[in-house]
Amino acid sequence: MSDLIETLQNIVDDAGFIDSEDLAGHSAGLRDDRPLKARALIRPKTTEQVSAVLRACNQAGQAVITVGGMTGLVDGHRSGDSDIVMSMQRMNTISEVDTKTRTLEVEAGAILQNVQEKAAQAGLMFALDLGARASCTIGGNIATNAGGVRVLRYGMMRDLLLGVEAVLADGRIISSMFKVLKNNTGYDLRQLFVGSEGTLGVVTRAVLRLHEAPQSIETALLAIPCWQSVMSLLRRFDAALTGRLIAFEVLWQNYYALNTGAYSDVDAPLSDSAGFYVLLDVNISNGDSDKEQLESILMQSLNDGLAVNGILASSESERHKFWQIREIFEPEQRKFGLVYGYDISLPIEAMPEYVDTVSRNLKAKFADAELFSYGHIGDGNLHFTVAPGAARDHSAIDEIVYQPLRNLNGSISAEHGVGIEKKKYLNFTRSQAEIDLMRQLKNMMDPNNILNPGKIFDV
Ligand code: LAC
Ligand code: ZN
Repeated sequence: MSDLIETLQNIVDDAGFIDSEDLAGHSAGLRDDRPLKARALIRPKTTEQVSAVLRACNQAGQAVITVGGMTGLVDGHRSGDSDIVMSMQRMNTISEVDTKTRTLEVEAGAILQNVQEKAAQAGLMFALDLGARASCTIGGNIATNAGGVRVLRYGMMRDLLLGVEAVLADGRIISSMFKVLKNNTGYDLRQLFVGSEGTLGVVTRAVLRLHEAPQSIETALLAIPCWQSVMSLLRRFDAALTGRLIAFEVLWQNYYALNTGAYSDVDAPLSDSAGFYVLLDVNISNGDSDKEQLESILMQSLNDGLAVNGILASSESERHKFWQIREIFEPEQRKFGLVYGYDISLPIEAMPEYVDTVSRNLKAKFADAELFSYGHIGDGNLHFTVAPGAARDHSAIDEIVYQPLRNLNGSISAEHGVGIEKKKYLNFTRSQAEIDLMRQLKNMMDPNNILNPGKIFDV
């Protein structure tokens, strides 16, 4: 055994060290059947252990890939045989809710859904919410600046983070566990770690901002004839509900049909013949009067033809079913086996033309490929699921999706990050001056390039 491996083994307890030979049964990620690759898997229990691991690896020039729930979608957590993988999952303590400051202190490996539940028990809400809630960790949410389905009202992870503790490549612990909303004392170091994808430091703890929980949430599903009506509805609901519209998701016709069709376990609550489907969540805080207001906006939208059909979920299980139509991925997996996912942002009014361009170019090159569109349209965030056809030419499809964004002032990643998958296209969204500054920051904070090397950009 090498000196470094022996040192690492001595830093953690027995359950915290897994040798490369014992990695069978550890997968490389959720929805990934490849085995985990690593020189060793380290599972620290404390910040001090994380610090000691990084100090030793830094001295040895050893690459460290830090992982949480491994639900990322851009290969940001991908590791190789020569890497140390450091899993934060055993650092998962969640403090009691501080109802006075409306905050919660968590360790990086805490699962998002457990954090949401803890906040709810205290009558408050942790507003971050996304499909991977049952597996993803707060540390991963911070490292990727996770978005999800409530960004429209509550912002992304960076807006919900008051304090952070992180360990630098050389083992120094930077503790900035503030509970206050305002802190204008120089550079916002906390935000450096947000969205840095494990390349600038390892997040170990965080102070999360909680919000008042609504009495309940109403969910509506609407069938919409055209894009103009989608945009009008978004304005109408957002304006009339003054801050109570918390999610506004749009499903293109073929995505709705796929997720309610033969490959799905969920039935269609509305027929699948409309151009678009809107799924929206509204906070109810004044019982019946809020609900009546929502019903009246829905009626008005049906009467003036913005929506051709619509339905309010009548129970919690129906709400869940409507959301499944948006969030399930089994139908695409069953029907196509392999699909490529995309996550882009662009001005909402440019979306239909952009989707048409991508669809046309895709069909022209791969006649048997299929494009499904959906996303957090209230945030200008579009997702594609692409069934690539027999050619399975991932990089040709990347070009088709990303090229038109260059003239639209859009982004190649709205919320998933860059990882390895989007590295080649970083300059579609970022100027050379921006990339140079990112590189300088990386070189300064991690001069030996041990933290998640080769992700976002090469140094
Ligand atoms: C979602 C993931 C793909 O919104 O970001 O479902
Ligand atoms: Zn998303």
